[in-house]
Amino acid sequence: MTTTTETGTETTATAAAVLEARGVTMRFGGLTAVRDVDLTVRQGEIVGLIGPNGAGKTTFFNCLTGLYVPTEGQVSYKGTVLPPKPHLVTQAGIARTFQNIRLFSNMTVLENVLVGRHTRTKEGLWSALVRGPGFKRAEAASRARAMELLEFVGLAAKAEHLARNLPYGEQRKLEIARALASDPGLLLLDEPTAGMNQAETRTTEELVFAIRDLGIAVLVIEHDMKFIFNLCDRVAVLVQGEKLVEGTSEVVQGDERVVAAYLGTPFEGAPGAEEAAEVEAAEAHAAEAEATEPEAEASEDAPADEAPAADAAPAETPASEGADSTTEGDSK
Ligand SMILES: Nc1ncnc2c1ncn2[C@@H]1O[C@H](COP(=O)(O)OP(=O)(O)OP(=O)(O)O)[C@@H](O)[C@H]1O
Ligand SMILES: [Mg+2]
Repeated sequence: MTTTTETGTETTATAAAVLEARGVTMRFGGLTAVRDVDLTVRQGEIVGLIGPNGAGKTTFFNCLTGLYVPTEGQVSYKGTVLPPKPHLVTQAGIARTFQNIRLFSNMTVLENVLVGRHTRTKEGLWSALVRGPGFKRAEAASRARAMELLEFVGLAAKAEHLARNLPYGEQRKLEIARALASDPGLLLLDEPTAGMNQAETRTTEELVFAIRDLGIAVLVIEHDMKFIFNLCDRVAVLVQGEKLVEGTSEVVQGDERVVAAYLGTPFEGAPGAEEAAEVEAAEAHAAEAEATEPEAEASEDAPADEAPAADAAPAETPASEGADSTTEGDSK
């Protein structure tokens, strides 16, 4: 497979593999949530993982990070097979954020980042108890590093705030800072822009590029297709636990199977989306004009007008397929 970046940065096809998942399968009783998935993330890459609700994306992340022991398959980081234990995976160099934010809400922003730092500090329990000079030095270094990371994600001014008082978008960024505190070589982001407005999403996009520029490879799950296709060198599509397609943003957007199984209608920013938006705006305008017309009491007409539209709409709503099966999809 050839992978390229359009931005003029080096071609990543030949770069060393950071993550290699081979034949990863995860079964829960009779349900196969992830089936025989291979995925490679190379040095310098941002790779996207997309797919409908319940496709198995988070479950796959959980297999990569040792939260789940895959039923079959194995995961390697920089050529070494990982033991399925979260702390060993973190120690090896993989960090993650969670779809359902997991912060220590009663701790400060800075303290949350310090927690993420602990895998990289050598000072043991005894040293911490007696608070000797080694411990104090290490603590000062950790705080300095944590402040740097807060600066990096734009939260330095809120270092002493309680995590629970941060707006939602900033909590997501704090999770990223905490993940970065373990000095990862690979960062896994599970829906980093969920609940964010457009401006926050845009800054998160820039943040992910900046993380990549630090030499950290990124694997990111998102439902915001504009975000994914802007950001990723390569995108893999999971549908019902299986990898359906993998390729550049262009390849994936143009793949009929992906459109049928997931993308459905064009996302904002896709070719043709502008026209669609114009039509929508014109329709909204027309509806508004109609509503403000003096004799809006043509009660017989209204339902008749709506009927054909309702018929036309439901032909395909693939993006919501399986949505009802996933209310607990991220309960890990
Ligand atoms: N611990 C578990 N026990 C049983 N079934 C599970 C468990 N975790 C996930 N599943 C099931 O596995 C399937 C995949 O869920 P998963 O959360 O990985 O989907 P997802 O692609 O992340 O979806 P979403 O986009 O909604 O986050 C779902 O059917 C879910 O109910
Ligand atoms: Mg998920």
